[in-house]
Amino acid sequence: MASAIENGHATPSAAEAAKQRRQLHHHADVVIIGAGILGCALAVTLGKQGRSVLLLENSMKEPDRIVGELLQPGGVQALEKLGLADCLEDIDAIQVDGYYVSYFGKPVSFAYPKASPSSPPPQGRCFHHGRFVMKLRAAALACPNVTVVETKVTDLVTSSHTKQVLGVECMTKDKKDCYFGHQTVVADGYASKFRKQYHTNTPKVKSRFWGLELIDADMPKKYYGHVLLSDNSPILIYQIGTHETRILIDIPENLPSASVKNGGVKGHLHNVVLPSLPESIKPSFAAALEKGQLRSMPNSYLPSAANKTAGLIILGDALNMRHPLTGGGMTVAFNDVVVLRDLLSPEKVPSFADHDKVLSQLSSFHWQRKKASSVINILAQALYALFAANDENLRALQRGCFRYFELGMTAGPVGLLGGLVQKPAVLFWHFFSVAFLSLWLVIANSPIYKLPVALFQCITVFWTACVVIFPYMLIEAFC
Ligand SMILES: Cc1cc2nc3c(=O)[nH]c(=O)nc-3n(C[C@H](O)[C@H](O)[C@H](O)COP(=O)(O)OP(=O)(O)OC[C@H]3O[C@@H](n4cnc5c(N)ncnc54)[C@H](O)[C@@H]3O)c2cc1C
Ligand SMILES: *[C@@H]1O[C@H](CO)[C@@H](O)[C@H](O)[C@H]1NC(C)=O
Repeated sequence: MASAIENGHATPSAAEAAKQRRQLHHHADVVIIGAGILGCALAVTLGKQGRSVLLLENSMKEPDRIVGELLQPGGVQALEKLGLADCLEDIDAIQVDGYYVSYFGKPVSFAYPKASPSSPPPQGRCFHHGRFVMKLRAAALACPNVTVVETKVTDLVTSSHTKQVLGVECMTKDKKDCYFGHQTVVADGYASKFRKQYHTNTPKVKSRFWGLELIDADMPKKYYGHVLLSDNSPILIYQIGTHETRILIDIPENLPSASVKNGGVKGHLHNVVLPSLPESIKPSFAAALEKGQLRSMPNSYLPSAANKTAGLIILGDALNMRHPLTGGGMTVAFNDVVVLRDLLSPEKVPSFADHDKVLSQLSSFHWQRKKASSVINILAQALYALFAANDENLRALQRGCFRYFELGMTAGPVGLLGGLVQKPAVLFWHFFSVAFLSLWLVIANSPIYKLPVALFQCITVFWTACVVIFPYMLIEAFC
């Protein structure tokens, strides 16, 4: 034990012994599957609390993906709480001050609301996902209580009598291998291979985002996230680097204008999306379309479920997903780590081997995380329903929503969107304010002799509003 003797100790320190257990015996307090957004943040957080952590990642190469490129200010604040805010430095990140929403070419923009008149304006950040993940991984690699291993996890190892999860089987460069921990965290992302047997819900996908990278795009409003609304599904645009701008185009399943007969997705982008874009974006969009490199991802909704299996913790996209329209996924992930840091602290849970204690803390986690996650989840799903309006009633609500913004009612909604306001009641209030404004617009825009028709439409619009929001409210509040 040369190093221990140099340190003046007769025996290796506890941390040094734990490190040897990780390296020689492949055993730790916690084994985390996936060094993505959630896995890295959790590894660093638990490591700092003195836990011995094994972080297993399929590929340590810089990810190249079209996801997780806008971190809402609420997520930036959670990252600060975790002491990881410096991961946003030196990645050519671009500040985000608010949102710019255009409705059939008519714009409104709104800044993230300040907590108080004297506090600084909240800021989000846009970046290349891969660069941010590499910074988070570097933070994990720098943590002495965390050992990062490049390996592909192939299976969970469970006890045959108790069903308890004991660790994982994996392949390291074509060689079979195993890692064991008192707790195994599944953080393997949206297509999680390991949640299937344990999660009571399955993801639902109604549309995909198709992404292109624009070069030197001329944005209508610098430092603002852009949402473009029209008869088509919503489009997002945000600058992710000095020269690069991401555009994400939502395409619902079985969209006629994206059918094979109409030239597929490329045909839709060319014939429908290009003409609808702001003039200043058209040249860079046309160039990117010409260049090709179209990529897509499914937009999923997955309600969370309580973890009830001893030795297992499912987190991140493996646990809970919402439509990425509002860019909330990473904010939810970092907020979850903040909640877990407190619930699983060594003061509350001295040993991760105490499965009953951990399970009872995870039950608290399931309810406590809702404060932050349910607002983001419901808002994403409800806004998507309105913004992708495909019937008259939803279009009436979409009109009402935009009018609501035009009337200056923006601080509340953008505070919810930014992850700054964690109050479901506030969301509820704004949603029904939009619904009633929509009803008023239906009446106000109808000629007097058609009033009975308008009044009947009011009923169906109101009913539609309830159908949009109540199922999500109920799932998020009680399940
Ligand atoms: C189109 C789209 C756009 C999005 N845009 C945003 C946005 O702007 N802002 C935002 O906050 N969120 C956004 N999201 C959501 C966000 O990307 C996710 O919420 C976030 O990445 C989830 O983090 P995670 O750690 O759970 O999963 P990931 O970040 O996907 O990490 C999973 C990790 O596990 C590894 N892994 C998987 N299987 C194995 C295995 N068998 N063995 C070892 N390792 C494995 C993977 O390699 C990966 O590194 C978007 C999502 C989509 C679909
Ligand atoms: C690592 O864990 C030990 C306990 O094993 C703890 O005392 C130490 O503070 C941790 N180190 C860091 C850098 O977090």
